[in-house]
Amino acid sequence: MAETEERSPEGVKYYRLSEIEAQNSFKSTWIIIHHKVYDVTKFLDEHPGGEEVLREQAGGDATESFEDVGHSTDAREMASSMVIGELHPDDRHKIAKPVETLVTTSKEESRYTHKHARFGSLDKSSLTGIIVSFAAGGQTW
Ligand code: HEM
Repeated sequence: MAETEERSPEGVKYYRLSEIEAQNSFKSTWIIIHHKVYDVTKFLDEHPGGEEVLREQAGGDATESFEDVGHSTDAREMASSMVIGELHPDDRHKIAKPVETLVTTSKEESRYTHKHARFGSLDKSSLTGIIVSFAAGGQTW
């Protein structure tokens, strides 16, 4: 319990990851962006990107998705009014790689591997083709 009352030297309230994770319902929606905790509950309806994307990130780290969108300065200012505290420094390592990101990464990797494999086989046969036609072309001309 004492943990929930912890604050940074500047007086910013620290939240443990477990507390934030619990705020993922319609009643209360919190997200983490750059280790800051945002209460976006009242903003869900107003978000130009829709409430669904925010709810998907509820209770977790939304930093990557927030930055991927390339939010405007206005959006960032708007966000700063929703900060309620920061993720406890001891819990920051826990959000380094959320499960969802790992899934995306492995999907992407397999897609890349696939591409490479296809290009790899294409390369070999077409390269031989090119060399042969060059050689043939050279002889004919
Ligand atoms: C407190 C947090 C957030 C605030 C204040 C916010 C605010 C805004 C604003 C003002 C826009 C309009 C475009 C702009 O000005 O950049 C926008 C668009 C959008 N936001 Fe957010 N946003 C937040 C978090 C997020 C998160 C976490 C996601 C992704 C999970 C997200 C996804 C989007 C998308 C997809 C759009 C639409 C972009 C488009 O159609 O061009 N936002 N947001």
